[in-house]
Amino acid sequence: MTLGESASLRHLHPQSIRRYQPRPQEMHEVVQLLRRIGHTDLLRPPGVDKLQEVARSVPPDLKREIHSVRNGRSGVLVLSLKDCLPEPPRTPRHWKDVCNGQLAPQYDSLLVLLCSVLGEVFRWSTQQDGRLVHDALPIRGHEYEQLGTSSMVDLNWHTEDAFHEHRADYVGLLCVRNVDCVATSVCCADWLEISRADAEVLRSPRYVIRPDNSHLPRYNSTDIDTTSFGEIAALKESPSRVAVLFGSHQSPRIRVDRDFVTPVDGDDDASAALGRLNRNIERNLVDVRLKAGELCILDNHRVVHGRRAFSPRYDGTDRWIKQCNTRALVLRGHDTVTGL
Ligand SMILES: [Fe+2]
Repeated sequence: MTLGESASLRHLHPQSIRRYQPRPQEMHEVVQLLRRIGHTDLLRPPGVDKLQEVARSVPPDLKREIHSVRNGRSGVLVLSLKDCLPEPPRTPRHWKDVCNGQLAPQYDSLLVLLCSVLGEVFRWSTQQDGRLVHDALPIRGHEYEQLGTSSMVDLNWHTEDAFHEHRADYVGLLCVRNVDCVATSVCCADWLEISRADAEVLRSPRYVIRPDNSHLPRYNSTDIDTTSFGEIAALKESPSRVAVLFGSHQSPRIRVDRDFVTPVDGDDDASAALGRLNRNIERNLVDVRLKAGELCILDNHRVVHGRRAFSPRYDGTDRWIKQCNTRALVLRGHDTVTGL
């Protein structure tokens, strides 16, 4: 790392990772909102509408902090919300055991409620059986996969669902348990020093991005709709050419995935620029060790994220993160992306 890059990091990182501890009164109000949500089925249209309505009553200062992700003041926001939440149950062995949020309903509700401040929470029909809230917890047999349910290898950094035009604008990660302080690694595009020549290449449609493995049928139940998996297979087979950088030069947007982005065949300049970008991101990753009850909200167009490796115990005390995707634009009638 050059001295110049090091100086930039000291300047930029504190601005881009923002922390907020809501006041006791704000916590009290959030608990009241969770009571209003009660046992609403978040997967049904009335439940989603109710969430949108309740989200309007989130305390103003807390709402302002959440909006800091939207207006570019922070790429990563961490809210400490432990006092709003009950003691969690033991970490289950599989996301299917969570039974659509029934295992820790307040956690699902809080995650969806606060992410709804930024827009519309949506689900993919091809991920975790089309659930609105995904559970990232270690699953036996997935240890070495590139999945949120792996453990023994780093989950390499990525834009969430980088392959898709309608990927999330914001990603919410609510920590249920993390006694081993496993790190979520993040890097904001603002932190990268990219040469003018590389930026020109990276801003051109000279790359393809294929769907990651979490959208494959074998990581879902076998009895769900196969049409959507056909769409995923088509995107894997014939991905469109895209740029990996876009937006303004002062505050660039990024669309990249360590393992699923490749240059167009034979484009050596695109390959070299991507290699330099990848090494640049590796050097600038910052580890955020989420504690129980902390909610991290990321700008998915500015920040890539991943997870460091850890050793699972499968004894109910492993790391457990709840995740949801939020879209800033409201597209009525499209609450799933590939049509559950
Ligand atoms: Fe992710």
